[in-house]
Amino acid sequence: MSPELFIKTPNLTYPVFVQRGIRRRLGNLIGELGTFEGMVVITDRTVAGHHFASIEGVLPPPAHFIVIPEGEASKSLGEYERVMGELLQKKLGRDFLLVAFGGGVVGDLAGYIAATYKRGVPYLQLPTTLLAQVDSSVGGKVGINHPLGKNLIGALYHPKAVVIDPEFLLTLPRREVISGFAEVVKCAFLKKDGFFAGLKRQLPKFLDGDWSGIEDIILHALLVKAELVEQDEEDRSVRHYLNLGHTFGHALEQATGFSTLRHGEAVILGMASAFQAALFSGRIVKEECEEALALLEILGNEISVPKVDLSSVLKGMEVDKKRKKDALVFVLPISIGAVEIVEHLDEKVIRDSLNFALNWAMGLKTKPVRSGKVEK
Ligand SMILES: NC(=O)c1ccc[n+]([C@@H]2O[C@H](COP(=O)([O-])OP(=O)(O)OC[C@H]3O[C@@H](n4cnc5c(N)ncnc54)[C@H](O)[C@@H]3O)[C@@H](O)[C@H]2O)c1
Ligand SMILES: [Zn+2]
Repeated sequence: MSPELFIKTPNLTYPVFVQRGIRRRLGNLIGELGTFEGMVVITDRTVAGHHFASIEGVLPPPAHFIVIPEGEASKSLGEYERVMGELLQKKLGRDFLLVAFGGGVVGDLAGYIAATYKRGVPYLQLPTTLLAQVDSSVGGKVGINHPLGKNLIGALYHPKAVVIDPEFLLTLPRREVISGFAEVVKCAFLKKDGFFAGLKRQLPKFLDGDWSGIEDIILHALLVKAELVEQDEEDRSVRHYLNLGHTFGHALEQATGFSTLRHGEAVILGMASAFQAALFSGRIVKEECEEALALLEILGNEISVPKVDLSSVLKGMEVDKKRKKDALVFVLPISIGAVEIVEHLDEKVIRDSLNFALNWAMGLKTKPVRSGKVEK
């Protein structure tokens, strides 16, 4: 079985397989990766309910399953301790393979457990959400949340391999599909390689439930991420580009308590804000900004926009800035397919851009034509 792409870092290289139905050959594939003394699969209740049966029979024995509650709350110190306890009680050494079977929550928690169980065991990412398939399963960032903030405890620890079966997506709820496509669209904004045009053509079809050709889209998004991770594994320079829409998005997630918006929904609003901020600050021409918004509109149309108090969003950004003892870094587009890192953005531009994006998303359901104006 030949991998579709390799992720190369200064110290290691690992394969990413993208293929419909590949889960049925998981046993063979694991056999090709090495010899392991058993498997431990970590998954969540929802994924177990839908897909447990489809992988249970193909894993080489002995396979243990650990099921966590679904949702962001499982990326916690409490759940970390509980799962660690289960592993230790099984008296497992360091030669088993841990399989992260689920969305980004399972991937981040299981990956962090793999990084830290007896100073590290090999693991495999078997992502089941679109977001995890195009983003979180690749790149080695693993971790959990702390009451003081998201992803504050973590490691850079790459899997042995990433195995992507797009058939898992067939059971994904609509909001998770939209959320995953946010990260796909983000990748299309990062490189001038025809991805944007292809996605514009195909996105409506996927949202209508026709998943044919999704493998190519997943692969394309991963290629964009892989290139940036390879150049900057430790996230000190160009890997930041993957944060397009995330500074605004994170602030919106924070101000709405992290449970109102799905991460990708916040990123959609964040990208609309970023394009508008680029327009306001003279970085991008109006036509390209509108073209970008037209693609985002297909996703933005589906968001139930929560009531947001802009002052608390800005206050949250200020607190973040102080906590990091650093400037807030924005990734802003300079055209479709190219971005730049901006460290100082005028507060009025930030406020007006967020305001624009929220009004834009709220107006999508009622207004077929965008006004393009900022409402004050
Ligand atoms: N490590 C990274 O580089 C990175 C990058 C982006 C996001 N993340 C993290 O990823 C997390 C979000 O990931 P997510 O959006 O996948 O959320 P998630 O893991 O919470 O999954 C979303 C929901 O979909 C369900 N689900 C998963 N697969 C399913 C399937 N095939 N069918 C039906 N339901 C399914 C889950 O049970 C859950 O309820 C966040 O914690 C975020 O911080 C990490
Ligand atoms: Zn993201």
